[in-house]
Amino acid sequence: MAKWNVYVTRLVPQPALDLLAEHCDLEINPEDRVLTKAELLDKVRGRDAVLCLLTDTLDDEVFTAAKGATIFANVAVGFNNVDLKAATRHGIMISNTPGVLTEATADMAWALLFAVARRVVEGDKFTRAGKYKGWGPLLMLGQEITGKTLGVIGGGRIGTAFARKAKGFDMRVLYHDVQPNKAFEEATGGTFVDKETLLKEADFISLHVPLMPSTTHLISTPELQLMKKSAILINTSRGPVIDEQALVQALQEKEIWGAGLDVFENEPHLAPGLADLDNVVLCPHIASATWETRTNMALMAARNLLAALQGELPPQCLNPEVYYNRSGK
Ligand code: GLV
Repeated sequence: MAKWNVYVTRLVPQPALDLLAEHCDLEINPEDRVLTKAELLDKVRGRDAVLCLLTDTLDDEVFTAAKGATIFANVAVGFNNVDLKAATRHGIMISNTPGVLTEATADMAWALLFAVARRVVEGDKFTRAGKYKGWGPLLMLGQEITGKTLGVIGGGRIGTAFARKAKGFDMRVLYHDVQPNKAFEEATGGTFVDKETLLKEADFISLHVPLMPSTTHLISTPELQLMKKSAILINTSRGPVIDEQALVQALQEKEIWGAGLDVFENEPHLAPGLADLDNVVLCPHIASATWETRTNMALMAARNLLAALQGELPPQCLNPEVYYNRSGK
């Protein structure tokens, strides 16, 4: 039987490529870079399916070029890179990778929180530069984490995992979302509060919301001004959730104490002034970047892709109506 014709927009961990290769003729972008729009349009033509990444912008033009494709399997939980309505109009299924990156992403939010609160990156730079001349009682004082108030915005899977891990640090947990989430409260002992209360009372605020119109610039000047002067803001969700220029100003003017960012408003570019600040720790969108998690994400996407090609409903399909229309079920 002829194998399916599948395109992979960028190298992903080998186990997923091996799984796909058992059933598909694969073409893989050999270069470790994002395809240009023209390349993407060219490469998706005539494919049965595409394994794609959060750095691929998948819009009406791409789905028009991919006419006849069954699925685009996105190796990410976030799918703000996909015009889901356009895919549905074109009869193309879209899947994502929820669950498998929950713990890794929550761990990274903690890594950033510790790095900022305890000035780990600044301390490393200082020590390497030969500036460490001996222990000092006032040298690089940071902020205690144990016993503080944690504010979690977004009480879904990742927000819950992040807050659950606070138990070891005897923290008071406040959270805010569009509505209270019993599962969050049971797992974390956290209390639902309105956004203003959370911003005013939390010592550390971590963002765990999906990017959509209602969460774009969820944190801007008014929100930053409500926070404590000692507050630390962590973002491992999507960059545009924070008004990055407003954050730079708040950090410059010491409106808040610090920030840890794994995502940026206009990736890979940084807002002017951000990289000059000592009170921010910056990482290149690596919250899910462990060997285990990236392998599991790619495998989950590959399984969704194969399920669709085999005529099944992919387990993580975001627009199942396409499947039901196709199969007449
Ligand atoms: C990573 O950012 C993801 O959405 O999976």
